[in-house]
Amino acid sequence: MIALPDTVLTVRACVPEDRARLSHILLNSDVFGQHDADTVDEMFVQAMAKPGPDQYRFTVACGEDGEAVGFACYGWESMTQGTWDLFWVCALASARGRGVGRALLADAVATASAEGGRLMVIYTSSTPAYDGARRLYRSQGFEKTAVIGDYYAEGDDLNIFARRLRA
Ligand SMILES: CC(C)(COP(=O)(O)OP(=O)(O)OC[C@H]1O[C@@H](n2cnc3c(N)ncnc32)[C@H](O)[C@@H]1OP(=O)(O)O)[C@@H](O)C(=O)NCCC(=O)NCCS
Repeated sequence: MIALPDTVLTVRACVPEDRARLSHILLNSDVFGQHDADTVDEMFVQAMAKPGPDQYRFTVACGEDGEAVGFACYGWESMTQGTWDLFWVCALASARGRGVGRALLADAVATASAEGGRLMVIYTSSTPAYDGARRLYRSQGFEKTAVIGDYYAEGDDLNIFARRLRA
């Protein structure tokens, strides 16, 4: 549990009943749309059906009332020795700036480290909509290590952030 001035957050592993809430968070993020919600839903169903060490991990951050206000999805990249990817992190637009992203990322880093992770990698966009995400990653010790120009679209680069674990 992470206590902040105005918020008490609990990060926990997802259960199947969280499925609809994840779509709700994405669709109320002011960034993601139905296609993203469908993609995450497919990953979530897969993860709940067959949990395991090389499966997607889903976590939610809940406020004092127990309601999930953000979620993360991350996991071990099975082609590597100890590299983990953070695939998604998202907070409700109405819950921004209260440490939700920080709590989710800190928990993902702690889990990956505890399971022998060596490196965590995040792919993100260079556009202004992802300013908050890039700030969050930097605040949690991630550095921009690579850029692929025009990866997502003309003028929308891929930024790859990485952080050593177990340091
Ligand atoms: C990225 C996101 C998860 C951050 O969540 P959040 O709960 O608002 O962030 P936090 O309150 O935990 O802030 C964490 C750090 O990032 C900084 N930060 C986050 N958003 C910021 C913003 N829009 N502007 C300035 N700083 C910001 C905070 O200052 C804080 O820094 P600190 O730890 O040094 O104090 C949230 O903005 C979001 O859901 N964005 C839309 C989805 C997205 O872009 N996801 C990432 C790509 S998958």
